[in-house]
Amino acid sequence: MNIKISPSMLASDFANLESELKKCEGAGADLIHLDVMDGCFVPNITIGAPVIKAMKRVCGVPFDVHLMIEEPLKYIDDFADAGADIITFHIESKSDTYETINKIIKCGCKASVSVKPKTDIEEVFPFADKLSMVLIMTVEPGFGGQSFMCDMLPKIEKLRAKFPDIDIEVDGGINSETIKECAAAGANVFVAGSAVFKSENPANAIETLKKNAGMI
Ligand code: DX5
Ligand code: ZN
Repeated sequence: MNIKISPSMLASDFANLESELKKCEGAGADLIHLDVMDGCFVPNITIGAPVIKAMKRVCGVPFDVHLMIEEPLKYIDDFADAGADIITFHIESKSDTYETINKIIKCGCKASVSVKPKTDIEEVFPFADKLSMVLIMTVEPGFGGQSFMCDMLPKIEKLRAKFPDIDIEVDGGINSETIKECAAAGANVFVAGSAVFKSENPANAIETLKKNAGMI
């Protein structure tokens, strides 16, 4: 599987988004992870499509947009227009899953569905043939800097056993140690917020993550 590191901008310095994006680009980030929260689906509010559109002007790395919002279907056009390359929404959201996946694909983006820790991974199986990626949350969504939930590892294993070719992304508490367990279980796309931006040297941090995921 193609291993990818997706730094989460949620942990970056919002007063200096351009330089933070350039930092990731220079450090070999494969994707840029953008966490969109609406204060309803999760108890936190972050950024929306206009901010992502502005970020897109100054960054050439593909955008991995993670929608933690109640009604994703209503906003797919906006995020596609803002420059999202992959759009992930939650299967627990209020939008119809098939309709939302079809809309994302129609807008020219790669479709991905995410599951919260309490949701069974089997729930995504019926949609897998239309998906480029599945995002398995390894913390309760809403905030960066939480601890990795190791009891999510069997979900990764189950999904990988059933779908050998799909991208499996993990998000929450991923660091140079937890990434090893996730990679061994079958994940190949790794979101890292604190592990990249709270480190003294983000480029070294990304390199260590890649190495520990088995990429170099
Ligand atoms: C949490 C977000 C994550 C978050 C990860 O709801 O989906 O992407 O930024 O942050 P870390 O890597 O610090 O756990
Ligand atoms: Zn995320």
